[in-house]
Amino acid sequence: MLSQLPPATYKDPNVIVGFESGDDAAIYRISDELALVLTVDFFPPIVDDPFQFGEIAVANALSDVYAKGGRPVTALNIAAFPRGLDPKIVAKVLEGGQSKASEAKVSIVGGHTVDDAEPKYGLAVTGLIDPGDEIKNSGAKPGDALVLTKAIGTGIITTAGKAGVVKAAVLDGAVRSMSMLNLGASESMLEVGVNAATDVTGFGLLGHLHTMLKASGVSAELRLGDVPRLDGAMELLENGVAPGGTHRNVEALSKVVHWGDAVGELDRLLLCDAQTSGGLLIAVPQERLGELQSALTANGSLFAAEIGTVADGPAGEITVH
Ligand code: CO
Ligand code: CO
Repeated sequence: MLSQLPPATYKDPNVIVGFESGDDAAIYRISDELALVLTVDFFPPIVDDPFQFGEIAVANALSDVYAKGGRPVTALNIAAFPRGLDPKIVAKVLEGGQSKASEAKVSIVGGHTVDDAEPKYGLAVTGLIDPGDEIKNSGAKPGDALVLTKAIGTGIITTAGKAGVVKAAVLDGAVRSMSMLNLGASESMLEVGVNAATDVTGFGLLGHLHTMLKASGVSAELRLGDVPRLDGAMELLENGVAPGGTHRNVEALSKVVHWGDAVGELDRLLLCDAQTSGGLLIAVPQERLGELQSALTANGSLFAAEIGTVADGPAGEITVH
C-alpha cells in the first residue's frame, strides 16, 4: 500500500528512517541523544478468545519497535467493533491488550474506536532509542549468520483454528508463541551487537528475509532443516490447510527464491507462511553468533536457531536447501 504514497514535497532531515527502505518502524531524531521510534499495527481477530486476541495484537504491534532495538514507552489503542457486540467481549480484548502492554512496561495513553462490521484491534506505538543505535534492515553482511527467535506456522494454525479443525494443544502452542514479546530478543541484540534485524510477520519468513537482503544488497542460503516449526503446522499443510496470504507469498517470491530439489511443495508454503507476531530474524557476524545465542537463551527467547548464512550474491535472492 505504501508504494501508492506520493513522494513528500517536504523533507525533514530529522527523519532518520522513513518508509522507503521497507523498514519495520520509522525513526525521528529529537536531539543528538534521543530519537523516537514510530509504528502502527492492527488487524481482525485471529483467535476466538478475545483476551488472547488482545495480547497477541499488542505483542505484534510492539514487535516492530523491538526489531529496531527501540524501547516502546507509550501506545494508543486503535479499535473497531461492530455496533451491538457484547461489551464484555470488547472489554476482554482491551484487557488482554492492557495486560500485555503492562508486561512490556508500555503505557496505553489513549486511543480511538470506530464502528465496523469486522472487529479490529492494535496499537500505534511510540518508542525511544539513541540515534545511531537503531538496528536497520539494511546492514546484513556476507558471512553473517541468520538467527530466528520463534518457530513458524502461525498462519496455518490460526487458519485451521478458524475452520475448527485444529487440536487444542497445537493452537495453544501457536498462541503462546504469538503472545510472547520480542523484548528479550531485542535486548539480546543490543547486548551483543548485530548487523541487521527485522520481525517476521505477514510476508512470511522468506518474504521478510528477502526485504532485509534486498535492502542490504546481499543474498542468503537458508537451511530448511534448521528452521524451527510449530508443532502441528506440517500436518495441517498435509491436510490442505493454508491461508490465502501464504499462497500469495510463495507466488510473489518465485523469482527471488531458488528451491533445492529436496524442498517440497509443503515446505515452500511453510517457509512463506504469513505470520502474526513472529520472531526476530537477525543477521549477526559469525564471531558473535555464540554470544547472541547465549543471550537469547538467557533472555527467555523461545528459539535461538541458526537457520542460514548471508552471502555475496544478487541482492535479495535466497537459496533454500
Ligand atoms: Co515488522
Ligand atoms: Co508492522
